[in-house]
Amino acid sequence: MIRPEQMDRRFVEEILAEPGGEHLLTCWSCGTCAATCLVRRFNPAFNPRLILHKAGLGLREAVLSSAEIWACSACDACYPRCPQGIHISDVMRAIRNLAIRAGYEAPGPAAQVDAATCSGCAVCTRACPYAAIERKPQMVNGQERTIAWVDRNLCQACGICVAACPSGAMSLEAMNDAELLTRVAAGGWLEQPGFLQGASDAPRLLAFVCQWSIRAEEEWERLQGLNDEHLRVVILPCSGRVEPAHVLLALSKGVDGVLVMGCHEGECHYQRGTYLGRGKVALLNEMMAAVGLAPQRVRFAESSALERRAFERQVAALREAIAALRPAEISEVRG
Ligand code: FES
Repeated sequence: MIRPEQMDRRFVEEILAEPGGEHLLTCWSCGTCAATCLVRRFNPAFNPRLILHKAGLGLREAVLSSAEIWACSACDACYPRCPQGIHISDVMRAIRNLAIRAGYEAPGPAAQVDAATCSGCAVCTRACPYAAIERKPQMVNGQERTIAWVDRNLCQACGICVAACPSGAMSLEAMNDAELLTRVAAGGWLEQPGFLQGASDAPRLLAFVCQWSIRAEEEWERLQGLNDEHLRVVILPCSGRVEPAHVLLALSKGVDGVLVMGCHEGECHYQRGTYLGRGKVALLNEMMAAVGLAPQRVRFAESSALERRAFERQVAALREAIAALRPAEISEVRG
C-alpha cells in the first residue's frame, strides 16, 4: 500500500528536469515496453512500466534503491513500440543519475582494468557502447600513467572492451579469457583431432552463443546439455565479446568449425555487438582465405530469443558445409 507521505512531488520534478527524464509523465502505463523488453525475458523482476509508474508517483526511495533501475541496457527495443514515443532508456538514465547523486551504485559486475598491463591506448574507450570507459591519470607502481578507468555505474558488462583490448588488460568477472578458454577446453575437448583430419566421424564444432539470442535460462541449460565430443557450446554476454584469437586457437587444435551466434542486427542488447561480432568473423574469413584455409569453417549467424531451434539449424548448416569440404581440406591439412 502506498502512503501519501511516500509520494514526493519534488522527486518527479527532479526527474523531469534531468536530461532524458522530461517524458516521464507522458507514459500511459500501457505495458507495451514491458512486453517488448529483452531484459525482462531473463529477469522478470525488471519491469520498465512499473519503474516509470512508481517514479511518476514520486516514490523516491522505492525507485532509487531498486536494483532494477540499473538493469536497462538501452537496447531500445521498446522505443519504436511505445505508443507515446517515450525513449524509456533515457528516462532510466535520468533516474540513475539521480540515484548516483543520492549515493547509490550499480549492483552488477563491471569490467575491470589491470593497471600494470594497460597501455592507455584508448581502444576500449572507443569500443564501449556506453561511454563507460575513459582515460585518467593514475599512479601505477609509483609512476603516474594515463590509463583506462571504468565507471561501474555506466558499464553493462557486455565484454566488448575485453575482446577489443590489445594488451589483455580488461577483464570481466566469469568472462575473462582464462575462464572462456577453460570452458572451451574442459575435459580435454580441445585436444581431440577433428573430422577434417580424418580422426572423427563427424565435424567437431565450437559454438560461441550470445546469451540474448536464445530463449531464457532453460534454453541456456538445454544448449549446455548438447555438449558432447562433436560440439562445445560457450555462452557469451554478447557476440561482440568473441575473440578472433580464441577462434584461431580452436582451429589450430583440430576443431573443424566455429559458429558465432549473435542477435539480429538492430536487436543487439548492447547496441553494436552484432556489428562487431559479424565484422570480426568477416575479417577472419578473409584472413583464412588468404592463408589457404576454407573460410566456410567459421560462420556468423543471427538469431532471436523468439526463434525456436535456430541454434540446431545453424549447427546443422555448418556441419553440412564442413562435410562438403572434406576432400579439399584433408589435402590442405596433410599438405
Ligand atoms: Fe546478442 Fe549483442 S547482445 S549480439
